[in-house]
Amino acid sequence: MKMCLGYANTNVMSIRTMISDNEYLDFIRDVSINVETTNKCVLKCPGCERQDIRTGKSIQLVKEKIKAGSDISLSTVEKIFNFFNQINFCGQISDPIYHKNFLELLELTNKFKDKRIIISTNGSHKSIEWFRKAFTTAPHVKWTFALDGLPDTSPIYRINQKSYEVWEVMKLGASISNFINWKYIVFKYNEHQIDEARRLAKQYNMQLQLAKSSRWYLKNIIHKYKPSDKWTSTSKSVTYVS
Ligand SMILES: C[S@@+](CC[C@H](N)C(=O)[O-])C[C@H]1O[C@@H](n2cnc3c(N)ncnc32)[C@H](O)[C@@H]1O
Ligand code: SF4
Repeated sequence: MKMCLGYANTNVMSIRTMISDNEYLDFIRDVSINVETTNKCVLKCPGCERQDIRTGKSIQLVKEKIKAGSDISLSTVEKIFNFFNQINFCGQISDPIYHKNFLELLELTNKFKDKRIIISTNGSHKSIEWFRKAFTTAPHVKWTFALDGLPDTSPIYRINQKSYEVWEVMKLGASISNFINWKYIVFKYNEHQIDEARRLAKQYNMQLQLAKSSRWYLKNIIHKYKPSDKWTSTSKSVTYVS
C-alpha cells in the first residue's frame, strides 16, 4: 500500500505506548492520513521533493522513487476508506488528479459519504469538463487548489501550471457548491496580492488558506522568492493563516 502517514506520525507513535490496542485503533482511525495517489505530476515546482533536493538526496534516488511508484489501486483505496475517517489525497511527490482512474476513485467516495475526504491538487492540465464531472461525481469531497497568488504570478513557482484555467475551475467548483480551499503559498512576488485574494475568495465563496513556507533553506532553488519575515514559517513545517 503506497501511503504516507505524514505529519501526525510522531504523535501517533508516542501515544501508542500509553493506550491499549483497541484504543490505539480507534485513535488511528481519526488521524488524517496523507495518501500518495500516483507517481505522476506535470508541474515542476522547484521546492517540491519530486524535483530532488529537499533531503539532500541525489536526483537519481528521487527518480528511482518516482519510477518505483504507480497509481494506487481502487481496491487499496477502498480498504483505506473502510478504516480511516480522514483521508487527504495529497502526497509528497505527485498530484492525485493524474491517477489514470481518478474519476472512478471519486465515484468510490460516494460509498463513504461520512468520511472527510480532501483532494489536494495543482488543478492543471485537465479540462474544465473533466472537472465539472469530478465536482458533480463527488459533491461531498473537499478540494484544495494550489494557486500561489493570482493567476498571473502562480506559475513563477508552479512551473507549467495553466493558472488562468485553474482559476476558472476553482470558480466552477465553488459555483456548484463544492468546498474549495484556495491554498496560496506566500512568496515575495505574490505578497502584494494577498488583499485582492482575500476579496476574490469572499466574492466567489472559497476558503483562502495562506501558507507560510519553511523551505527557504533550499538556498539556490527558491530562496530568491522568500517573502518578508511576516510570511515565513518560524517552525520546521508549513503554517497557515485562514
Ligand atoms: C507534493 S505536493 C502534493 C499535492 C499537489 N501536487 C500540490 O502541489 O498541492 C505536497 C504539498 O507540498 C506543498 N508545497 C509545494 N511546494 C512547497 C513549498 N515551497 N513550501 C511549502 N509547501 C510546498 C504543496 O502545496 C502541497 O500541499
Ligand atoms: S504540483 Fe505538487 S507534486 Fe507537482 S511539482 Fe508541484 S508541489 Fe510537486
